[in-house]
Amino acid sequence: MDVAPVFNPATGKTIVQVPLSNASYVDDAVAAAKKAQKEWALVPAPQRAEVLYRVGYLLKERKERLAQLLTQENGKVIEEARGEVQEGIDMAFYMAGEGRRLFGQTTPAELKDKFAMSQRAPVGVVGIITPWNFPIAIATWKSFPAIVAGNAVVWKPATETPIMAYELAKIFEAAGLPKGVVNVVFGSGRTVGNAMVQHPDIRVISFTGSNDVGRNIAAECGRQLKKVSLEMGGKNAVIVMDDADLDLAVEGILWSAFGTSGQRCTACSRVIVHETVKGALEERLRSAMEKLTIGDGLDESIKVGPIINQSGLDKIKNYIEIGKNEGANLLEGGYELTGGQHGKGYYFAPTLFTDVRAEMRIAQEEIFGPVVSLIPVKSFEEAIEVNNSVEYGLSSSIYTNDINRVFKAQRDLDTGIVYVNAGTTGAEIHLPFGGTKGTGNGHRDSGIQALDVFTEWKAVYVDYSGKLQRAQIDVE
Ligand code: UN1
Repeated sequence: MDVAPVFNPATGKTIVQVPLSNASYVDDAVAAAKKAQKEWALVPAPQRAEVLYRVGYLLKERKERLAQLLTQENGKVIEEARGEVQEGIDMAFYMAGEGRRLFGQTTPAELKDKFAMSQRAPVGVVGIITPWNFPIAIATWKSFPAIVAGNAVVWKPATETPIMAYELAKIFEAAGLPKGVVNVVFGSGRTVGNAMVQHPDIRVISFTGSNDVGRNIAAECGRQLKKVSLEMGGKNAVIVMDDADLDLAVEGILWSAFGTSGQRCTACSRVIVHETVKGALEERLRSAMEKLTIGDGLDESIKVGPIINQSGLDKIKNYIEIGKNEGANLLEGGYELTGGQHGKGYYFAPTLFTDVRAEMRIAQEEIFGPVVSLIPVKSFEEAIEVNNSVEYGLSSSIYTNDINRVFKAQRDLDTGIVYVNAGTTGAEIHLPFGGTKGTGNGHRDSGIQALDVFTEWKAVYVDYSGKLQRAQIDVE
């Protein structure tokens, strides 16, 4: 089998080799999943949940080790890596709880001596395709609800981050998950991902990644009437109103724009600021940005880690040129860091463009790096309009102390996630995660809503009258 090197983005050093499987491995994985699923679906859900509880405890036990590995393969700083593993732990205990719920409904029947109810049924074999930026958390958002609902999973992790997938698979095994319930297939989207999308026995695809790939997956799934759940890009904004606590806003912007080096779907990449506080905000942001430490995330004092790889870096560099050509004012950063401790990895300075207009490409397109565009506005209404002017709708945030604005904003911001007096990142796992417009296709990860992706609704009628009763006819 072909292999490809996986390297640490902080040092450029190869850390492992990832196998590059082909379509026949997907066939084998689906066959194993199909076989295992039949029995798994018959295990009572509370017992299926027991496995997830054990997974949760194992994640807890191995948290520090996993975080260290995660920082090495993905580059995010160690504190954030611990947070990501914690997200998986939270998801395990939350979804394990669903083993004793998985609620359906009972409702009155129209006819005498008749009982009506609805219940969730597993879909069967489901395919999950996960990204490198949250290699363990997102895998748990998708696999745990699938498992507790009685499905079997074929999982393609990103080739950049196979270690987290390997470690999570080992945890499933140690927790006693029957063989075949989760099957990891390493390899590229072009071969493995495509084979999963094409496979007739995979009935659901849940994908997190880029917009282009997501649209192609959706088109193909559409042809096959396959259910597909997509979570894609974002162009998330923090709105700073004239009555905002500016220091708090600066902290929130810094954290959500430069945390994970801006490589979150939820990252803040636009700041929409009321013109009366623009100067003050710029000044405070700028001086706070100058204090950010950039380097290898294993060092606890580092706040901003590397970019995932050369092509990620090239894309960011390209957008800097685009921004300059569009006439935006480059106030801070805008360059690659090289030499010394940055010599071997992929580092980019936290960057702030100001005097950006809402329609500029740097304010419309996802850059996926530590680059923020500051857009001045004249009013609350204009701020909302600018927020909603992009093709994406994942996360948004407003800093204000005006209670009326808070409630208007949470109603009018067209995003799946809204924050008040907090940045755009930091979604909790028991709420639905996903967005409107170009961010997705109406489904949600995590929260109770994730169960909708991995289950079919079944309506069941039991007639105990002992005679033929015709619905809608024998109603008198
Ligand atoms: C992502 O970037 O796709 O809300 C996931 C957050 C994290 C998850 C981000 N809990 O920022």
